[in-house]
Formats: sequence, C-alpha cells, structure tokens
Amino acid sequence: MGEASLFDFMREQGWTTLEIMHDRQSGKMSLRGATEWLENTVWDRYGEVDLVSTMEWFETEGVRPRIARSPVKEHYGKVVELMRRGGHEVLELLLDRKQDIRFLAGIHSTRLGNPAGGIRRHSLEDPEIDVFSDIFNLSRDMSFKNAAAGIPNGGCKLGVHSSLPEGERDKRFYGFLAYCIDRQMAFTGPDMGFNLEDANRIREFTKNIVGGTARTGSGGATGITAAWGVFLAMKAALMEEGFEGLRVAVQGAGELGGPLVKHLVDAGARVLVADISDEALAGLPGTVERGAAEGILRAECDILAPCAVGGVLTEETIAGLRCRMVVGGANNQLAATSQKQEYRMARLVADRGILFLPDWIVNAGGVIQGKMEHVRGEKFVLEDAKAEAGRVIPPNVEDVLYIAQKQSITPVEAAYRKFEADVYGTAG
Ligand code: PHE
Repeated sequence: MGEASLFDFMREQGWTTLEIMHDRQSGKMSLRGATEWLENTVWDRYGEVDLVSTMEWFETEGVRPRIARSPVKEHYGKVVELMRRGGHEVLELLLDRKQDIRFLAGIHSTRLGNPAGGIRRHSLEDPEIDVFSDIFNLSRDMSFKNAAAGIPNGGCKLGVHSSLPEGERDKRFYGFLAYCIDRQMAFTGPDMGFNLEDANRIREFTKNIVGGTARTGSGGATGITAAWGVFLAMKAALMEEGFEGLRVAVQGAGELGGPLVKHLVDAGARVLVADISDEALAGLPGTVERGAAEGILRAECDILAPCAVGGVLTEETIAGLRCRMVVGGANNQLAATSQKQEYRMARLVADRGILFLPDWIVNAGGVIQGKMEHVRGEKFVLEDAKAEAGRVIPPNVEDVLYIAQKQSITPVEAAYRKFEADVYGTAG
C-alpha cells in the first residue's frame, strides 16, 4: 500500500478505536483514541460474552500531539477538511488487528435520531482517503434521504476496508461487524460489495442489519422497493406522458437496476441495459437490448437511469448526455463532495436542457423498506414498503419540481432547500 493510513497509525499506537468528532456549530474537532479489545478477541462469540472494555484511552489533548508527530499528520488534515466541507459529525474507525478488518462509520448527522445507512466494502487496494471520501458522501446522502423519506433517523454510511477473501469471511469476521454495527447504529443493510448472504451471516448476531434473504425472517433485498420507487419517480417526472414507447437506458442490472428494468418493460418502455457483468444481464427479459458498458451514458434515450456506481455525472459525461432526463437509483450520481459542488454540477446538467432529479429523493425506497423491516421484524410485508414508497416519493418529486420551477433553481437545489432545516437545524 504505502499510502497514508489512520488505521495503520492506530495499529502503531496499539489502539482499536479512533473517533474524530466535529461540532458543526463551533467548528471544533475533538478526538478519542482507545484500546477496547484484545488482539485475539473471540468475535465469533459476540452477544454471548462481554468482549469489550476500555483498557486505555486518550482524549483530544492526548491524541492530537501523537498525530502531529506522525507522518499521518497530512492525511489526517485532509480527512478533517472533508468533514468540515460536508458538515459531518463523526468519523469512527474500529480495527480488528488480527484479521486486519478496518471498519469505519461516517456519521453525518444525528439531528433526526440514531444514524441509519448501508454498509459497503472497499478493497485494500483503494487508497484510504478515497474510501473515507466515498463513505462521507454517502453518509451525507443518507441524512437527506432519511429526512426526505420521513424516517426519524440521522444519516450514516458504514464501510469495511478489507481484502479478506470471501472464503475467509468466517464467524469471527461477521461477529466483529455485528459489534461495530450495534455500537451506535439504528440499522444498516447491504450496499455495494455486500450481498444477501453477508447480511444473513451478520444477522446471526444482530437484528440491526436488514435486507438479508427473506427466509431468515428478513425482508429480502432492499433493492426491490428502491427499484419500485425509482420507477414511480420517473412516472411522476413524466407527468401525463407515460412509458409507452419511451426509450430508457439503464446503467447497471444489479439488485436495483435488475428489478427496475422489469418494471419498465411491463410499462411498455423500450429498454437498453449495460452492465459489466454478463451474469447480471442474463436474467433480464428477452426484449431488453444489451449495450456496451462504456457507451451507456451517451445513449440516445428519453430517460437515463444510472443504477450502479456513484460519481458518473462529471463535466465530461454531462457534455456527452443525449437524454431528456436523468432519473436513477445510484447514490451520489453527481461527481461532487459538497452541497455547493452538487449545485454546480446540477446547473451544468440543467444548462443542457436536461432534467436531473436528486438521487436521494428518487432512491429512498431502499431505506423505506429497511426501516420497516427493522421496526416490524417478522411482521414485515413487502407490499407495505412499496405502498409507503408510493406515498412518499412521487409527492417529493412533484414538490421539488414545483419549487425548482417557481424559484428558477435546479431540482437539486430545491430538494436541499426543502430538507436542510431537518438535517442541520438551520438552512445550511
Ligand atoms: N443502502 C441504502 C441506500 O443507499 C439504504 C439502506 C439503509 C437500506 C439501511 C437498508 C438499510 O439508499
């Protein structure tokens, strides 16, 4: 690796825990470094026995000079800068030293309640700063998504920076993650890099993960309701027009893109899909056209639906768009790390005469399903989650379009204006 790493720094200090806390009001940062479990902690017995107790800890005055003396100092400065720019409350890093599992929680806002958000996995080949930045962006997105969905939770995103091969993900691995999730979260669910089976395994230890296989008493993949919500958002944006004969290009046929394609086909749209995995494409209806992954953002179509990775709308790709609207399920489609930057990118799309709907308004169906499963447990019914998405998402789309038109701003800016008091307490 050789890249600067706060987890490596923790290891050098013998710490399991590092918390970086930011007070949005005063701008003050505070820190806590601690050793809270042993190297050979039996995480596979999490829930049965007490595994955690604070053996040694340092508050800000103890942690800061240690960072200042270390080569990690500059990297730490970048992390702090990202937190300030995005208005984030906490970055918590937890380390299992034995298996080198690097767990991170980016907690953006707790104003509405305990934070909820998905869990993602990143390869150790990705530089740590990129992983942190991804998690920060996604956690900010979750604060607004939860607010827009009417869910009484703040926003966070969890990440696992680890190269542990799938075959070595054992009970110890899942037990550790369950502990990390329980530590402060309301609930989480699998996001990119985590599958239903991972959720099932973590669920053996905690009910604070949702979105596992239905047979385990879980609600099934949250992509189902997410896809339904995206479809309804498109429908609301189309107003009277309807889908018959429209051309829709879908990027990504995974847990969200796959079900979305089926809704579109059923509604009479002509669908073009691209995915880097042939396997994902294989399960789609026969009438769907398969395109090359590289060209999909430039496809000539009525609606472009990014449903895979984030950051796909850059200055360059925006210039190449050939659609009337962009309405998709991927998180953070605009390549940006702050609200301000998002406004700028959204303006570029609008200047091309293309309608872009903010993704956290459109794809809230996933967390709506997750919340319902978390609250109702075994009594969860998928149809209720879909109905709730139908109650929440189309009116949000209509409102945002109305405000945007009235105030001559982009729908992105309109959406932030509508919900920022919920997330920050004041207009941000
Ligand atoms: N990961 C989902 C998203 O990005 C939301 C989610 C959170 C789903 C928690 C389930 C549990 O929107």
